[in-house]
Amino acid sequence: MMMMMLVVLLIYTCWPYTPGNGEVVSSFEDFCPQFFFRGTPPSMGLDPSRPARICQRYKNQYRYATLYDKDNRIPVYSAYIYNPGTAKRPDTWRIEPQLLDSTFPQEMETEWAFLKEYNSQEEALQDSQAIARDYKNLTGLNRGHLNPNSHQPDRDAKSSTFTFTNIVPQAIKLNGGAWNNYEQKTMLQQTEGCNETFAVVGAVPGNNYIAEGRVNKPSYLWSAACCVIDNNHMKSWAIIAQNDENVVYSLTLRQLEERLAKLYNLNYISLFDRDCPRE
Ligand SMILES: *[C@@H]1O[C@H](CO)[C@@H](O)[C@H](O)[C@H]1NC(C)=O
Ligand SMILES: *[C@@H]1O[C@H](CO)[C@@H](O)[C@H](O)[C@H]1NC(C)=O
Repeated sequence: MMMMMLVVLLIYTCWPYTPGNGEVVSSFEDFCPQFFFRGTPPSMGLDPSRPARICQRYKNQYRYATLYDKDNRIPVYSAYIYNPGTAKRPDTWRIEPQLLDSTFPQEMETEWAFLKEYNSQEEALQDSQAIARDYKNLTGLNRGHLNPNSHQPDRDAKSSTFTFTNIVPQAIKLNGGAWNNYEQKTMLQQTEGCNETFAVVGAVPGNNYIAEGRVNKPSYLWSAACCVIDNNHMKSWAIIAQNDENVVYSLTLRQLEERLAKLYNLNYISLFDRDCPRE
Protein backbone atom coordinates (compact mmCIF):
# COMPACT_ATOMS: atom_id res chain seq x y z
CA MET A 1 0.00 0.00 0.00
CA MET A 2 2.76 2.39 1.04
CA MET A 3 4.68 1.41 -2.08
CA MET A 4 1.72 2.12 -4.30
CA MET A 5 1.18 5.54 -2.77
CA LEU A 6 4.83 6.32 -3.33
CA VAL A 7 4.59 5.33 -6.98
CA VAL A 8 1.47 7.45 -7.44
CA LEU A 9 3.19 10.40 -5.77
CA LEU A 10 6.23 9.95 -7.98
CA ILE A 11 4.14 9.88 -11.14
CA TYR A 12 2.39 13.06 -10.08
CA THR A 13 5.52 14.98 -9.23
CA CYS A 14 7.47 13.87 -12.29
CA TRP A 15 4.69 14.28 -14.84
CA PRO A 16 5.96 16.80 -17.40
CA TYR A 17 2.52 18.28 -17.95
CA THR A 18 2.16 21.68 -16.29
CA PRO A 19 -1.33 23.12 -16.69
CA GLY A 20 -1.34 26.75 -17.80
CA ASN A 21 2.05 26.47 -19.43
CA GLY A 22 2.21 28.52 -22.65
CA GLU A 23 4.08 28.28 -25.90
CA VAL A 24 6.01 25.02 -26.08
CA VAL A 25 3.41 22.49 -25.05
CA SER A 26 3.06 18.76 -24.53
CA SER A 27 0.08 18.46 -26.86
CA PHE A 28 -1.77 20.76 -29.25
CA GLU A 29 -5.07 19.14 -28.29
CA ASP A 30 -4.70 20.27 -24.67
CA PHE A 31 -3.44 23.80 -25.27
CA CYS A 32 -4.47 25.20 -28.66
CA PRO A 33 -6.89 22.85 -30.45
CA GLN A 34 -8.74 25.84 -31.94
CA PHE A 35 -6.28 26.10 -34.85
CA PHE A 36 -7.14 22.63 -36.15
CA PHE A 37 -10.30 21.50 -37.91
CA ARG A 38 -12.37 19.59 -35.28
CA GLY A 39 -9.45 20.12 -32.86
CA THR A 40 -7.46 17.39 -34.64
CA PRO A 41 -3.78 18.07 -35.49
CA PRO A 42 -2.15 16.33 -38.48
CA SER A 43 -1.30 12.75 -37.58
CA MET A 44 0.77 9.70 -38.29
CA GLY A 45 4.42 10.27 -37.87
CA LEU A 46 5.10 13.79 -39.08
CA ASP A 47 7.22 14.25 -35.93
CA PRO A 48 10.94 14.86 -36.49
CA SER A 49 13.46 13.41 -34.00
CA ARG A 50 13.61 16.58 -31.88
CA PRO A 51 10.12 18.07 -32.23
CA ALA A 52 8.62 21.01 -30.36
CA ARG A 53 4.95 21.83 -30.33
CA ILE A 54 4.47 25.59 -30.19
CA CYS A 55 1.19 27.32 -29.48
CA GLN A 56 2.41 30.61 -30.93
CA ARG A 57 1.74 33.23 -28.31
CA TYR A 58 1.89 36.98 -28.79
CA LYS A 59 0.40 39.76 -26.62
CA ASN A 60 -1.02 37.18 -24.25
CA GLN A 61 -3.02 35.30 -26.89
CA TYR A 62 -2.51 32.13 -28.85
CA ARG A 63 -2.35 33.04 -32.55
CA TYR A 64 -1.61 29.75 -34.39
CA ALA A 65 0.26 26.47 -33.92
CA THR A 66 3.64 25.28 -35.21
CA LEU A 67 5.35 21.91 -35.12
CA TYR A 68 9.07 22.76 -35.06
CA ASP A 69 12.05 20.60 -35.99
CA LYS A 70 14.94 21.55 -33.68
CA ASP A 71 17.52 19.58 -35.67
CA ASN A 72 16.77 21.17 -39.04
CA ARG A 73 15.82 24.46 -37.35
CA ILE A 74 12.75 24.87 -39.55
CA PRO A 75 9.06 24.27 -38.92
CA VAL A 76 7.43 21.04 -40.08
CA TYR A 77 4.17 22.92 -40.43
CA SER A 78 2.15 25.87 -39.14
CA ALA A 79 -1.62 25.50 -38.67
CA TYR A 80 -3.92 28.51 -38.59
CA ILE A 81 -7.33 29.89 -39.42
CA TYR A 82 -7.48 31.88 -42.66
CA ASN A 83 -8.77 35.34 -41.80
CA PRO A 84 -7.08 37.95 -43.99
CA GLY A 85 -7.04 41.59 -42.90
CA THR A 86 -5.53 44.71 -44.36
CA ALA A 87 -3.39 46.03 -41.48
CA LYS A 88 0.13 47.15 -42.40
CA ARG A 89 2.82 44.49 -42.78
CA PRO A 90 4.97 44.35 -39.61
CA ASP A 91 8.73 43.80 -39.80
CA THR A 92 9.99 43.01 -36.31
CA TRP A 93 11.36 39.48 -36.00
CA ARG A 94 11.09 37.35 -32.87
CA ILE A 95 12.40 34.12 -31.40
CA GLU A 96 10.77 31.47 -29.21
CA PRO A 97 12.24 31.52 -25.66
CA GLN A 98 10.69 28.23 -24.58
CA LEU A 99 12.61 26.29 -27.21
CA LEU A 100 15.55 26.65 -24.82
CA ASP A 101 13.60 25.46 -21.82
CA SER A 102 10.09 25.71 -20.39
CA THR A 103 11.37 28.01 -17.62
CA PHE A 104 11.79 30.85 -20.13
CA PRO A 105 8.97 33.30 -20.99
CA GLN A 106 5.86 32.03 -22.77
CA GLU A 107 5.74 34.75 -25.39
CA MET A 108 7.82 35.18 -28.49
CA GLU A 109 10.17 38.16 -28.17
CA THR A 110 12.95 39.88 -30.09
CA GLU A 111 16.39 38.32 -29.98
CA TRP A 112 17.65 41.61 -28.61
CA ALA A 113 15.18 41.75 -25.69
CA PHE A 114 15.76 38.09 -24.88
CA LEU A 115 19.55 38.40 -24.80
CA LYS A 116 19.34 41.60 -22.81
CA GLU A 117 17.56 39.70 -20.07
CA TYR A 118 19.39 36.37 -20.44
CA ASN A 119 22.83 37.37 -21.69
CA SER A 120 24.42 34.02 -20.84
CA GLN A 121 22.01 32.16 -23.14
CA GLU A 122 23.29 33.18 -26.58
CA GLU A 123 24.68 29.75 -27.40
CA ALA A 124 21.63 27.92 -26.08
CA LEU A 125 19.42 30.20 -28.17
CA GLN A 126 21.42 29.49 -31.33
CA ASP A 127 21.30 25.79 -30.66
CA SER A 128 17.56 25.71 -30.16
CA GLN A 129 16.43 27.56 -33.30
CA ALA A 130 17.29 29.65 -36.34
CA ILE A 131 18.09 33.30 -35.65
CA ALA A 132 18.34 36.47 -37.77
CA ARG A 133 21.98 35.87 -38.71
CA ASP A 134 21.11 32.55 -40.37
CA TYR A 135 18.91 34.31 -42.91
CA LYS A 136 21.40 37.03 -43.84
CA ASN A 137 23.54 36.97 -46.98
CA LEU A 138 21.57 34.24 -48.78
CA THR A 139 21.66 33.81 -52.54
CA GLY A 140 18.36 33.15 -54.29
CA LEU A 141 16.57 32.45 -51.00
CA ASN A 142 14.70 34.56 -48.51
CA ARG A 143 12.40 34.18 -45.50
CA GLY A 144 9.36 32.16 -46.51
CA HIS A 145 6.48 32.37 -44.04
CA LEU A 146 4.45 29.18 -43.60
CA ASN A 147 1.63 31.11 -41.93
CA PRO A 148 1.76 34.31 -44.00
CA ASN A 149 1.01 37.63 -42.33
CA SER A 150 -1.47 38.40 -45.11
CA HIS A 151 -3.76 35.59 -43.87
CA GLN A 152 -4.04 37.10 -40.40
CA PRO A 153 -6.68 39.63 -39.38
CA ASP A 154 -4.94 42.49 -37.56
CA ARG A 155 -1.63 44.06 -36.68
CA ASP A 156 -0.93 41.85 -33.64
CA ALA A 157 -1.91 38.63 -35.37
CA LYS A 158 0.26 39.61 -38.33
CA SER A 159 3.19 40.42 -36.03
CA SER A 160 2.95 36.95 -34.52
CA THR A 161 3.90 35.40 -37.89
CA PHE A 162 7.28 37.16 -37.86
CA THR A 163 9.04 34.53 -35.79
CA PHE A 164 11.95 32.33 -36.86
CA THR A 165 9.90 29.26 -35.95
CA ASN A 166 7.38 30.07 -38.73
CA ILE A 167 9.77 30.50 -41.67
CA VAL A 168 11.97 28.45 -43.97
CA PRO A 169 14.60 29.38 -46.56
CA GLN A 170 12.41 29.71 -49.65
CA ALA A 171 13.41 30.45 -53.24
CA ILE A 172 12.88 34.19 -53.77
CA LYS A 173 11.27 33.57 -57.17
CA LEU A 174 8.75 31.13 -55.72
CA ASN A 175 8.07 33.21 -52.61
CA GLY A 176 7.35 36.32 -54.64
CA GLY A 177 5.85 34.45 -57.60
CA ALA A 178 3.56 31.43 -57.81
CA TRP A 179 3.48 30.90 -54.03
CA ASN A 180 2.50 34.50 -53.43
CA ASN A 181 -0.15 34.21 -56.13
CA TYR A 182 -1.62 31.20 -54.33
CA GLU A 183 -1.58 33.00 -50.97
CA GLN A 184 -3.17 36.18 -52.28
CA LYS A 185 -5.41 35.19 -55.18
CA THR A 186 -6.17 31.48 -55.12
CA MET A 187 -6.96 31.42 -51.40
CA LEU A 188 -9.33 34.36 -51.80
CA GLN A 189 -11.18 32.64 -54.67
CA GLN A 190 -11.28 29.20 -53.06
CA THR A 191 -12.57 30.47 -49.72
CA GLU A 192 -15.58 32.21 -51.22
CA GLY A 193 -18.62 30.94 -49.30
CA CYS A 194 -16.50 29.37 -46.54
CA ASN A 195 -17.58 30.27 -43.04
CA GLU A 196 -14.29 29.06 -41.57
CA THR A 197 -11.12 27.86 -43.32
CA PHE A 198 -8.39 25.88 -41.57
CA ALA A 199 -4.97 25.86 -43.20
CA VAL A 200 -1.91 23.68 -42.65
CA VAL A 201 1.26 24.77 -44.45
CA GLY A 202 4.46 22.77 -44.30
CA ALA A 203 7.96 22.19 -45.66
CA VAL A 204 9.69 18.92 -46.54
CA PRO A 205 13.37 18.96 -45.45
CA GLY A 206 15.84 18.68 -48.32
CA ASN A 207 19.50 17.71 -48.69
CA ASN A 208 20.92 21.22 -48.58
CA TYR A 209 21.51 23.65 -45.75
CA ILE A 210 22.18 27.34 -45.29
CA ALA A 211 24.11 29.14 -42.55
CA GLU A 212 26.98 26.65 -42.44
CA GLY A 213 24.74 23.66 -42.09
CA ARG A 214 22.58 25.14 -39.37
CA VAL A 215 19.29 25.53 -41.23
CA ASN A 216 17.76 23.08 -43.69
CA LYS A 217 16.68 24.27 -47.12
CA PRO A 218 13.38 22.47 -47.77
CA SER A 219 12.98 20.56 -51.01
CA TYR A 220 9.22 21.15 -51.15
CA LEU A 221 6.64 23.48 -49.65
CA TRP A 222 3.00 22.46 -49.41
CA SER A 223 -0.27 23.98 -48.30
CA ALA A 224 -3.67 22.42 -47.56
CA ALA A 225 -7.00 23.95 -46.59
CA CYS A 226 -10.23 22.64 -45.16
CA CYS A 227 -13.21 24.93 -45.62
CA VAL A 228 -16.36 24.68 -43.50
CA ILE A 229 -19.33 26.06 -45.42
CA ASP A 230 -21.85 24.96 -42.79
CA ASN A 231 -22.34 21.95 -40.50
CA ASN A 232 -22.99 19.59 -43.39
CA HIS A 233 -20.88 21.03 -46.16
CA MET A 234 -17.11 21.15 -46.37
CA LYS A 235 -14.48 21.18 -49.07
CA SER A 236 -10.71 20.97 -49.29
CA TRP A 237 -7.86 21.78 -51.65
CA ALA A 238 -4.07 21.63 -51.67
CA ILE A 239 -0.90 22.61 -53.47
CA ILE A 240 2.74 21.54 -53.53
CA ALA A 241 5.78 23.36 -54.92
CA GLN A 242 9.39 22.39 -55.45
CA ASN A 243 11.59 24.93 -53.70
CA ASP A 244 13.69 25.54 -56.81
CA GLU A 245 10.86 26.15 -59.30
CA ASN A 246 8.42 29.01 -59.57
CA VAL A 247 5.40 26.72 -59.96
CA VAL A 248 2.68 25.47 -57.62
CA TYR A 249 0.82 22.26 -58.44
CA SER A 250 -2.83 21.90 -57.45
CA LEU A 251 -3.84 18.61 -55.85
CA THR A 252 -6.72 17.13 -53.96
CA LEU A 253 -6.18 16.78 -50.24
CA ARG A 254 -5.94 13.02 -50.68
CA GLN A 255 -3.31 13.36 -53.39
CA LEU A 256 -1.25 15.68 -51.20
CA GLU A 257 -1.45 13.30 -48.23
CA GLU A 258 -0.29 10.42 -50.43
CA ARG A 259 2.48 12.50 -51.97
CA LEU A 260 3.71 13.62 -48.54
CA ALA A 261 3.68 10.07 -47.19
CA LYS A 262 6.11 9.18 -50.00
CA LEU A 263 8.27 12.27 -49.51
CA TYR A 264 8.51 11.79 -45.72
CA ASN A 265 8.85 8.04 -46.15
CA LEU A 266 5.85 7.26 -43.96
CA ASN A 267 2.98 4.82 -44.35
CA TYR A 268 0.22 7.30 -43.89
CA ILE A 269 -0.35 10.99 -43.34
CA SER A 270 -3.57 12.71 -42.37
CA LEU A 271 -3.54 16.50 -42.41
CA PHE A 272 -7.13 17.10 -41.21
CA ASP A 273 -9.78 15.29 -39.20
CA ARG A 274 -11.45 12.63 -41.35
CA ASP A 275 -14.67 14.69 -41.53
CA CYS A 276 -12.92 16.94 -44.02
CA PRO A 277 -13.58 15.58 -47.55
CA ARG A 278 -10.47 14.37 -49.37
CA GLU A 279 -11.59 14.99 -52.97
C1 LIG B 1 28.37 36.37 -47.99
O1 LIG B 1 28.41 35.37 -48.99
C2 LIG B 1 29.55 35.41 -49.83
C3 LIG B 1 29.37 34.38 -50.94
O2 LIG B 1 28.62 33.27 -50.55
C4 LIG B 1 30.81 35.20 -48.99
O3 LIG B 1 31.95 35.26 -49.81
C5 LIG B 1 30.87 36.27 -47.90
O4 LIG B 1 31.96 36.05 -47.06
C6 LIG B 1 29.58 36.29 -47.08
N1 LIG B 1 29.60 37.41 -46.17
C7 LIG B 1 29.26 37.28 -44.88
C8 LIG B 1 29.29 38.55 -44.08
O5 LIG B 1 28.95 36.22 -44.35
C1 LIG C 1 -19.60 30.16 -38.67
O1 LIG C 1 -18.49 29.99 -37.80
C2 LIG C 1 -18.65 30.53 -36.51
C3 LIG C 1 -17.37 30.28 -35.75
O2 LIG C 1 -16.31 30.89 -36.42
C4 LIG C 1 -19.85 29.89 -35.83
O3 LIG C 1 -20.06 30.49 -34.58
C5 LIG C 1 -21.10 30.04 -36.71
O4 LIG C 1 -22.16 29.33 -36.13
C6 LIG C 1 -20.83 29.51 -38.09
N1 LIG C 1 -21.97 29.74 -38.98
C7 LIG C 1 -22.47 28.78 -39.76
C8 LIG C 1 -23.58 29.19 -40.68
O5 LIG C 1 -22.06 27.63 -39.75
